[in-house]
Amino acid sequence: MTKSPGGYSKFASYYDFLGWDDFSRQAFRRLKKTLTVVPSPVETVLDLACGTGDLAVLLAGEGYRVTGVDLSELMLKQARRKRGGKMIRFVRGDIRRLSLKERFDLVCCFFDSLNHLTSKADLLLALKTARRHLNARGRFIFDMITPKGLQIWDNVEIDREEGYLVLTEGKRNPAGDRIEIVIEGFVRKRGDLYDHFKQVIRERAYPQREVTQLLAKAGFRKIVIESFDRHEAIESAERLLYIAH
Ligand SMILES: C[S@@+](CC[C@H](N)C(=O)[O-])C[C@H]1O[C@@H](n2cnc3c(N)ncnc32)[C@H](O)[C@@H]1O
Repeated sequence: MTKSPGGYSKFASYYDFLGWDDFSRQAFRRLKKTLTVVPSPVETVLDLACGTGDLAVLLAGEGYRVTGVDLSELMLKQARRKRGGKMIRFVRGDIRRLSLKERFDLVCCFFDSLNHLTSKADLLLALKTARRHLNARGRFIFDMITPKGLQIWDNVEIDREEGYLVLTEGKRNPAGDRIEIVIEGFVRKRGDLYDHFKQVIRERAYPQREVTQLLAKAGFRKIVIESFDRHEAIESAERLLYIAH
């Protein structure tokens, strides 16, 4: 197992402020559509790498009993203080070795969280975690960005508004399957006083063939793959949705 990859620290306080929580609404809509074709009923949900908890809150609002797990206590702190956060059990844990001794009807993991696991061994551990926490008829639904999806991050962006400046710099490796994204920001606290944060995120994009093989190794027998936005062909998709059981 590699050393605590992808844990979010000070950036956690600015995750929602900078709009990174927006993706949860897309994930929620996509998940709801997918659940309409899942044959067994869903009452309990385990949201792996739940971050600041928006997806968990949306699901709890629909009546599901939700548990959210994340490595970062600071992300969970944001989640717990959200309106609706009290309905959810948030647990600090590493998705590579989590053991809640409990099973769920649905396990999900969204917004490239699994891409944060940059070794195949770590990814396999996380897939096994999902399997271990699934009821017999349960589904594991997650997204992953593809090597093509990494391209979007391979640039420099400056986001400058009244009161903050954020620089995001992504660098892909020559093979095109890994990226290091440095997000550095200054956010005005008061007057001329600015808070500074720097977050480094490393991600790896795995070809779907490898993900499928690892899912099978983790004990999943049936795997459906769709493009996340439903319009792109799977082969050229930037983000894929996996439904496994
Ligand atoms: C891009 S964020 C996604 C958060 C949330 N799912 C969302 O949609 O906003 C990635 C999250 O993965 C978490 N993470 C990364 N590695 C993890 C690990 N090994 N175990 C648990 N959480 C992890 C980070 O702390 C962060 O909250």
